[in-house]
Amino acid sequence: TRNVIIDCDPGIDDSLALLLALKSPALNVIGITIVCGNVPTHIGAENALKILDLADRLDIPVYLGANRPLEVAYTSAQDTHGDDGLGNSEIPTVTAVRPIQDAARFIEATLTEAPTTSILALGPLTNIATVLQRDPNLFEQVDQFTLMGGSYRSHGNCSPVAEYNFWCDPDAAKVVFDLMPVPIQMVGLDVTRKIVLTPSLLAYIKDINPTMGTFIEKITKFYFDFHWQYERVIGCVINDPLAVAGMLDSTILHGFDSYTTVVTDGVARGQSIVDDHDFWHATVNSQVMTDVDVEAFWRLFLTTVIGATEP
Ligand code: BDR
Ligand code: CA
Repeated sequence: TRNVIIDCDPGIDDSLALLLALKSPALNVIGITIVCGNVPTHIGAENALKILDLADRLDIPVYLGANRPLEVAYTSAQDTHGDDGLGNSEIPTVTAVRPIQDAARFIEATLTEAPTTSILALGPLTNIATVLQRDPNLFEQVDQFTLMGGSYRSHGNCSPVAEYNFWCDPDAAKVVFDLMPVPIQMVGLDVTRKIVLTPSLLAYIKDINPTMGTFIEKITKFYFDFHWQYERVIGCVINDPLAVAGMLDSTILHGFDSYTTVVTDGVARGQSIVDDHDFWHATVNSQVMTDVDVEAFWRLFLTTVIGATEP
C-alpha cells in the first residue's frame, strides 16, 4: 500500500478522484490538502469533508492551504463547478470534524518524517510550489508525484492554449517543473478529455450502487448541463480521477519522458511547453501522458468505487 497526500480543489471531478483513492486498497490517504482553485479554499475543504463522510473516512485530516495563487489574482472555476463546487447540490455541511491549518506545514512535516510519501496534485500547484520553494530537497525521495494539469497537443480549457490548473497559478506550475527533484507524471487534457461520464455509465452506477450513484448524479448534474451547453458533449469529462488511476495502475496511461515548462504570463499564460524534440537539451523532468486505455480506466473506477464485478 502506498501512502499518499492528495492536494486538491474539490470540485466535482476532484470529488470523484477522492472517492477512487479512498476506496482503493492500494492507497493509504494520509491527508487531504486544499488549495484555492475551482472554489475558494474554505469551500473546497468543506467539500473534501463531505466526500470523506460519504466514504465513511472522516478519520483522514483535511488541511487548509493557499487562499490565492503565488503572483496572479485568483480566478475560481465556479462557472463550471457551481458556487458550492459540487454542482450546487446542497449536500449538508459536515460539522463533526473541521479542517485544520495549514497544508504547507502538513506536507513539510510528512515529508520530513516519511520522505517516500507519494503526492497526487489535482488542483493549481500553489501549495506544492510553496513547500518546494522553501526546501526542494524534501521531495527527493517522494515515491511518485502525479499531477492533473497542462496539455501537450490538445487545446486548452480556459484559453486556446491553457489548462485550468496551470492557468490559475502559472507561477506555481513553473516552480513545480523547475524544482521538483523527482519525475512529474503529467496527466493532462490530451488524456483526461477521453474520460467521459456518460448518462448510461451513470445509470449503471446507480443501478449497482444506489447510494454512490445518487450522490454522483447530484454532483454531476450541473457539469452535464455545462458540457452540453458549451461543448455539445452528452455527459461530462472527468479529469482528476484519471490521475489517481495513473498512480494506481501503470498500464492505464502511456506517454514519453521530456523536459516540460510552463508559460507564466502574456497570451499564453498557463500553457505547458513540452520539449518533445529536445531542442533545449534540458534535463528531463516529466513523463507526459499521451495515451489512455479508456476501458481499463472504467474497469478500475467501477470495480473500486461501486464494487462492480469484473465481467
Ligand atoms: C482541472 O481543472 C479543474 O476544473 C478540474 O478539477 C481539473 O483539476 C481540469 O482542467
Ligand atoms: Ca481539480
